[in-house]
Amino acid sequence: MTILTVDKIDTYYGNSHVLHGVSLEIDEGEVVTLLGRNGAGKTTTMRSIIGASPPRSGSVTYRGEEITGLSSDAINGLGISLVPEDRRVFPTLTVQENLRLAHNLASDPRPVEEMYELFPALDNLRDSNGRNLSGGEQQMVSVARALVQSPDVLLLDEPTEGLAPVIVDDLKEIVQTVVEQNVTVLLTEQNVDFAFELAERGYIMDTGEIVFDGTVDEIRDREDLLETYLSVGTADA
Ligand SMILES: Nc1ncnc2c1ncn2[C@@H]1O[C@H](COP(=O)(O)OP(=O)(O)OP(=O)(O)O)[C@@H](O)[C@H]1O
Ligand SMILES: [Mg+2]
Repeated sequence: MTILTVDKIDTYYGNSHVLHGVSLEIDEGEVVTLLGRNGAGKTTTMRSIIGASPPRSGSVTYRGEEITGLSSDAINGLGISLVPEDRRVFPTLTVQENLRLAHNLASDPRPVEEMYELFPALDNLRDSNGRNLSGGEQQMVSVARALVQSPDVLLLDEPTEGLAPVIVDDLKEIVQTVVEQNVTVLLTEQNVDFAFELAERGYIMDTGEIVFDGTVDEIRDREDLLETYLSVGTADA
């Protein structure tokens, strides 16, 4: 069953026309990746879905209901949570306070304690301030903060950016656990290996348009696509 449909959206920043007729369709329980170079429009697509940069035309439909034009808070309340590229962990709040804040804003949250089971590394850091966390720890808090809201759809915007390989492996396991808990995931990545290991299907974007969609196996086999749109040629493999 389709859970999220993006239908021919056009999104602008002021007069700058960034997304051109972007369409996506995601089934419940799927992991779908959105790939593309810097500036392709991946973040803007996610911001359009959650209402932070509402599209000027086209529509976003969640479980059959049009959500275009609703506030970000309203969309979040319906069950779509974004883990933003820049993480936005509150620096002067502790890990526990960051999680509790997200918990208190959600309509149907999971217990904060469950997040420490999912992210054991955060358990010892409950009383640490956000500003004292490593990049990997901040990313864990950012993901936990989204998950404590018990979303049905999780949007992960370049979650592996700047993380050490061992943390990337932890994050992969966490996403797999979350998917087993029936959360649908849309994942943008420049780290195609991470995306390919998690997703079954993907879309490739370039200059604000979807230029290809297919299974991850299809994308993996297309060296031309990888070279043209994802800067992962065979030369540097
Ligand atoms: N706040 C903004 N105001 C004006 N233009 C913006 C703004 N944010 C992004 N853009 C432009 O919109 C286009 C798409 O950017 P977007 O951030 O969606 O790309 P992206 O695929 O997420 O890139 P990256 O991989 O660098 O995160 C780019 O040309 C970018 O310069
Ligand atoms: Mg981005």
